[in-house]
Amino acid sequence: MIYKNILVVFLFALTGSTVAAQQLSWQQVAPGIWKGVAGSPEQYDLLKAAGARPAIAALHKMGEVSFPLDKQDIQATATDGKTYLRFPLRRSEQLFGLGLHFKTVHQRGKILRLHVDHYGGKDNGRTHAPVPFYVSSAGYGVFINSARYITVYAGSAVRKDSKHRPAEKNRNEDKTWSSRPYSDALEVLVPATGTEVYIFAGPTALDAIRRYNLFNGGGALPPRWGLGFTQRVKSLFTAGEVKAEVDSFRLKGYPLDFVGLEPGWQSRAYPGTFEWDSRRYPDPAGFVREMLDKNIRLNLWINPYVSKSASFYKEIAPYTGTHTVWLGEVPDFTIPEARKIFFGQLKKDQVDIGVSGYKIDEVDGYDYYLWPDVARFPGGLTGEQMRQTYGVLAMRYSLDLFRKRNERTYGLVRASNAGANRFPYVIYNDYYNHEDFITALINSGYIGVLWTPEVRASKTSEEWIRRFQTVIFSPMAMINAWSSGTKPWSYKDVAAPIKKLALLRMRMMPYWYSEFAKYHYEGTPVFRGMSLEPGFENSTHASVKNNLEDNPYLEAVSKEVKDQYMAGQYLLVAPLFAGQQSRKVILPKGKWYDFYTGKYVGDGEIISVAPGLDKIPVYVKNGGIIPMMPSMLHAPEKGQQVDLEVRVYGDMPATYRLYDDDGETMDYEKGAFDWRKVTVTKDAKGRLTGSVEEPHNKAVQTYRKITFRFMTAEK
Ligand code: GAL
Repeated sequence: MIYKNILVVFLFALTGSTVAAQQLSWQQVAPGIWKGVAGSPEQYDLLKAAGARPAIAALHKMGEVSFPLDKQDIQATATDGKTYLRFPLRRSEQLFGLGLHFKTVHQRGKILRLHVDHYGGKDNGRTHAPVPFYVSSAGYGVFINSARYITVYAGSAVRKDSKHRPAEKNRNEDKTWSSRPYSDALEVLVPATGTEVYIFAGPTALDAIRRYNLFNGGGALPPRWGLGFTQRVKSLFTAGEVKAEVDSFRLKGYPLDFVGLEPGWQSRAYPGTFEWDSRRYPDPAGFVREMLDKNIRLNLWINPYVSKSASFYKEIAPYTGTHTVWLGEVPDFTIPEARKIFFGQLKKDQVDIGVSGYKIDEVDGYDYYLWPDVARFPGGLTGEQMRQTYGVLAMRYSLDLFRKRNERTYGLVRASNAGANRFPYVIYNDYYNHEDFITALINSGYIGVLWTPEVRASKTSEEWIRRFQTVIFSPMAMINAWSSGTKPWSYKDVAAPIKKLALLRMRMMPYWYSEFAKYHYEGTPVFRGMSLEPGFENSTHASVKNNLEDNPYLEAVSKEVKDQYMAGQYLLVAPLFAGQQSRKVILPKGKWYDFYTGKYVGDGEIISVAPGLDKIPVYVKNGGIIPMMPSMLHAPEKGQQVDLEVRVYGDMPATYRLYDDDGETMDYEKGAFDWRKVTVTKDAKGRLTGSVEEPHNKAVQTYRKITFRFMTAEK
C-alpha cells in the first residue's frame, strides 16, 4: 500500500501534474473592475507592453457595481507549466470580442487560438488584433492579461462536473440529438505558469466595454485632420508627383487632409534604411514644408526591419533579435537603447521636419515572413511574446515622437492587442472582402481597437462607390492607392456622388470629433455592433430554430447581424454591397428617421430599402442631434473657426454633448478642452427649439455661428 502511494506521488511528479482547481482571489482595482491572479504570472504581459494606465477619474464617474459573476464558478488550475481557466456561462448568454474577426460577430461555441497574424480567411483567432477580452450579453467582460498564444474554448466543451450538464440523447431515435451539446463554461488555456485575469462589470455589455477601454486609458482621440480624407499614393511616386496629386484634389474640389507615402519614400525597403530616397525626394524638408503650407500632412509607410545599409545599422545590431525579417534585423523595442537609436532616426530624419505619422506595416505576420517562435530577443522576450506585442510596442514608442512635440498623430498599424486602446492607430490589412470589412468594423468596437475598411481599386464603379460609402462612415476615410493609383474621380460615372460623399464626411466632422471624444473620455466605442444598442432585438434569421437552447453555437450563428452598425451616439449605418439593389435593415425599438431627409422610417421593425447607387442608408434615433459644419477641403486648423449647423431628428426633447479643443496638440490632457451642452426643448404646441451653452473655456472655440435645422419637424 505504502509503495503504491509512493508510486502515485512519483508519477505525479514525473508528469508535472497537478494542482486541484482553485478559486481566484479577487482584488478590486477600480470601480467595477477586479483583478484575479492565477498561478505565478509572467513578468511580461499585454498591459506592460502597452504601458496601459487606467483613467481612474472616469472610472469613478461610472460608479461602483457589484461583482458580476459567481466567484466560485471562476477557477484556475496549474498543470504542466500551463494555466487552465474556467468561467461560467449562462443559458441564453452570447459572447462578443476575442479578436478582430472578419466573418463572425457572436463567439459562443467557438474555439480560438489567439495569435497575432495577418488574417488568413478563417475566424480561428489568428488575426491582426487577437485581443483576449470578451464581453457577454449578460453585461460583464473578461480579460486575460497574457502575451502568449492562448486558446479559448468559448463554451464548446462539456465537463463531467458541469452544473448544467445536458441529458445524454440516443442518436438512433432522438432527432434532437446535437453534435455540439450545451456547454456552461468558457475555458482558457494559457501556456504559462500563471496569468492575471480582469473582470469588468456592466450593468450593460456596453458599460463593461467602457470600463475595459477606460481601464486602458480610454479610447484614442485623433487630431481633427485625422478624421478628414487620406489618400495613399503609388509606392514609387516622386515629390513632384505627390505635389501634382495633392493639387489635383484641390483643383477638382475633393477633400484631402493627409497623404500616405509608401515604401518608395525610403532609399531601400524590405528591409529599410528609414531615410529618404534622395532621387525621389531630393529636398525632404522643403517638400514637407510645402505640403504643410497646403494643409496636407504626411504619413510614412515603414516596417521596422533594418537594412544593413541603414546609417544606424551597426549601432542597433546588438539590440536586435536572433532572426531576420526579409533579411532585415528586428529591433527589440523593450530595450531603451534600441528605441533611442531606431526612433531617434525617425525623429531626426522625418518627425523633426514635420512628418505627421506612420503606417506601421507587417508587424502581424505571416509565419513565413516574421521571426519564428524559436527566436530570442536580447531583452529576454521569446518569439511568441514579441509576436503578440510587436505592433503594440511600435505604436507606443512612435507616439512619444509626437508627444514630445506636443502634437497628435493618427496612423495605421497592422497588429495590435489589448492595452493599445488609447493609441491613435487604425488597423488595416491586405484582405479585401467588403462584407467582411464591415464585420471587422463591428468587431473592432467590442475590443477597443480601430479598423478601416479602406478602399483600393474596384472591379466596377458600383463596387467603388459602395466601398467608398462605408469608408466615410469609419474611423479613417482612406483610399489606399499604393498599387493601383486610383483616385476618387477615377470611376467617371460615380465621380460626382463620390465627391458629395467625401464632403459629407467633412461636414460631419463636429459629430465625429465629439463621438471620438466620448470614446476617449468615457470609453464608448464610436463604431459598434447592434447587440450593444438598447432595444435591438434580432428576428431576421429566425429560420434556425431547432434546439437553439441546447446548442448555443447554433444559436449564436443564427443571431449574427454583421452588415449594419452604429456610428456614434445616434446613427445606424446599413451599407449595401456590390450587386445589391436593396436590403433589409433591423431598426431597434424606438422611432427612427432617415438621415438625409428627416422622414420617419420605422420603430423596432425590419424595413426594406432600395436607396439607389449614390446613397448609403443611414438612420437617426429619435432625439438625434448631429452637429455639422460647412463642407471644407481640409479639417479646421488649430484656432480656425467654423459655423455649426445642428441637425435635429424626430419629435422629442433631447440633449447632446458637443466636444471642442484645439484639435492638434496634447493640451487637452492639461484641461484645454470644452464640453458644451446642446439642448432641444418642446413647447406646449409641440414646437422644438434648440440652444447651445456658451463655451466654458474661451481658449477653445471652434464653433462660430450656430444654427439649428429641425430635419423632421420642418417637413
Ligand atoms: C503591404 C500593405 C499595403 C502596402 C504594401 C506596400 O503589406 O498591407 O497596404 O503598404 O505593403 O509594400
